[in-house]
Amino acid sequence: MFYNIDCREGAKKYLQDNSVDLIITDPPYGIDGDLLHKHYNRDESQVLDGYIEVPLIEYADFSVEWIKEAERVLKFGGSLYIISGYTNLIHILNALEKTELKLVNHIIWKYNFGVYTKKKYISSHYHILFYQKKGGNPTFNTFARFGDSQKDEQNKSLNYQDREDVWLINKEYKPNQIKNKNELPTQLLTKIIQYSSNENDLVCDFFLGSFSTAKVALALNRNAVGFEKNPIAFDYQSEEMKKIEKGSLLKNIKMPDENKLFNQGKPLLEEEINQIIHRFKELKKEGNNKKQSIEILTAETGRGYWSLIKLLDKKLAQQTTLL
Ligand SMILES: C[S@@+](CC[C@H](N)C(=O)[O-])C[C@H]1O[C@@H](n2cnc3c(N)ncnc32)[C@H](O)[C@@H]1O
Repeated sequence: MFYNIDCREGAKKYLQDNSVDLIITDPPYGIDGDLLHKHYNRDESQVLDGYIEVPLIEYADFSVEWIKEAERVLKFGGSLYIISGYTNLIHILNALEKTELKLVNHIIWKYNFGVYTKKKYISSHYHILFYQKKGGNPTFNTFARFGDSQKDEQNKSLNYQDREDVWLINKEYKPNQIKNKNELPTQLLTKIIQYSSNENDLVCDFFLGSFSTAKVALALNRNAVGFEKNPIAFDYQSEEMKKIEKGSLLKNIKMPDENKLFNQGKPLLEEEINQIIHRFKELKKEGNNKKQSIEILTAETGRGYWSLIKLLDKKLAQQTTLL
């Protein structure tokens, strides 16, 4: 459900208290309209007209008003991600301070094509403020994208790297395509949606722009709702939205290598524990060190690397005590 309306009014009118699982939103930045093209796509020829800015003088109150609504509509345990530059970040942080929302992470999104400057450093990051509404059971799917034991070529954990709070994600270059002044990349939205929601959850964007949040949410088999005040963008993008097939992106996303951890979380029976200990000793005898042996065991048993270490440390310590 999408509404061509000011988000503050739209949320009051159409969204009930505690009804949304996840909000991802990228509010207007409150900067001088003439400078916008520097922050966004520099080639304006394919950009839709009618982008609505918020005058700087109103920005603080505006932020308080929409963030208050965001807090109201979020479910208990629901998540809010706000993407912001640094110019008016202070007003967004102040508005968040006025709520009961809990800060979870302050993420830095580093992108390509920063705003070129000669007499100062080149600005090439946004802030992503990740908050949750207290109470309820927050959704954070730790292993939504990489399993516990998945490693890169340097043997570093992919799960750890994916969950670090500095993200290197390129903006999308869309030559000859109609677009909004600023479009969030599919890769960024996919990551947030995978970690902080489940299929069929409701994802909301207060400032739809090109409807990028809604398009990715739908393609990941979530439901979507949102507001956009600019009628030109709204009319064009709500037609585009109809082309998105629900769930169509699910086959192309990062998913944990389930084959490797097919037994993760299942209870361990005494017989399996004995087999694991026996096989561990065998692997050590064959000349593998502890780490190598456990990696082999992870592949063979389909259990997580760290849970095997914990189990073996405990059981082998008990055996040493008995001896
Ligand atoms: C930074 S853009 C959002 C870009 C969007 N995330 C995307 O990927 O295309 C902010 C959008 O908010 C819209 N906007 C400004 N004030 C608004 C308001 N009060 N209510 C709803 N939309 C508003 C602007 O027209 C603009 O399209």
